[in-house]
Amino acid sequence: MVRVLTVVGARPQFIKAAAVSRAFSASGGVEEKILHTGQHYDDAMSDQFFRELQIPAPAYNLEVGSASHGAQTGRMLEGIESVLLGERPDWVLVYGDTNSTTAGALAAAKLHVPVAHVEAGLRSFNRRMPEEFNRIVTDHLSDICFAPTAVAVGNLAREGISGASVIEVGDVMYDAALAARDAEPSARVQGLDLESGTYVLATVHRAESTDDPDSLRAIFEGLAGTGRRVVLPLHPRTKKAIADLSLTTPSLEIIEPVGYLDMAHLTRNAGVVATDSGGLQKEAYFHGVPCVTLRTETEWVELVDMGWNILQPPSSSAEVSRAVLASFGRRGRPGSPYGDGKAAEKIVEALKAGRLVMAGR
Ligand code: UD1
Ligand code: UDP
Repeated sequence: MVRVLTVVGARPQFIKAAAVSRAFSASGGVEEKILHTGQHYDDAMSDQFFRELQIPAPAYNLEVGSASHGAQTGRMLEGIESVLLGERPDWVLVYGDTNSTTAGALAAAKLHVPVAHVEAGLRSFNRRMPEEFNRIVTDHLSDICFAPTAVAVGNLAREGISGASVIEVGDVMYDAALAARDAEPSARVQGLDLESGTYVLATVHRAESTDDPDSLRAIFEGLAGTGRRVVLPLHPRTKKAIADLSLTTPSLEIIEPVGYLDMAHLTRNAGVVATDSGGLQKEAYFHGVPCVTLRTETEWVELVDMGWNILQPPSSSAEVSRAVLASFGRRGRPGSPYGDGKAAEKIVEALKAGRLVMAGR
């Protein structure tokens, strides 16, 4: 039996881990325990995903909550180390680029517990982003880097990470999107009475957007300026930021964060997705919807190359409105840069095989 400790803490990690947990169960031969750092803790940001996606309940919840980067990561490190000393798993499995990712990888590496990183090799080449440090540190600490794309493999190679430790498996978010394709919306989302193809689905949460009042204003006023229905499930970080700025844009349909299956439904039926989210950029493409990424750069460059995504930095509200309106009806070229929808299965097989390799050493 291969023993895996999965470390998660933030919304997108629950969605990715759900796909891999399902593959663990289907494959057998793996005992997975989940450690939730508690980075995200509101029901709408955490528990609703465990319920809806039937993710096994966390064996541990560190309940670290919100804090500055150092304090939050430090609390996680201490808690994860203590769990690892008791559990001594064969693998620590981490996802993405949050503080929970880095804390899991660092705590494990220092105790010589093998680390596997799902979504390795992404780079924005923007060192103003906290996530960029998390990605670089985690990739360099990991024994296996599960890269989602060929571009990610190339980024790792440029930093000297190559060979058997890098495996291109595809994107687990594609697996997740395929599983959610036919999901029925909740009564809450049905109640919005949205006409397919006519509205904008928007999300905003990145530090670069929320911590710069000019950018935040340009995004909110730009979205309102489209004159279209704009549905905006609001991240709690952004809720706080707009309250601090007393920013009011009554025409936007701001709602509480929704569950993953509702989000898939809202994405699939949107005319345009406008977002600074990494995950949602790809989901727009998975569901065949054009995306405007409200940033100066993206890690998911394939979609810009293919024409499914355009970058619109939030420099002025007029430019945001124009880019969003111009994107209705835009289509990109076909392609399949994110694998075959079986990334999770490949991850499971590699972890099982990796244990055998280690045992044979
Ligand atoms: C984090 C990740 C980011 C990821 C995002 C996914 C880091 C550095 N950032 O950003 O990469 O894209 O998660 O959503 O790890 N809050 C609540 N309730 C919650 C969670 C957060 O109210 O359940 C509020 C708090 O005011 C908190 C703020 O949101 O201070 C930011 O939360 P935090 O987890 O620090 O960062 P995110 O912006 O969520
Ligand atoms: N998401 C969700 N409900 C929401 C907003 C987003 O389920 O109200 C999902 C979205 O579909 C995607 C993931 O959360 O799967 C993206 O997470 P987020 O934007 O918080 O983080 P990022 O991907 O930028 O790290």
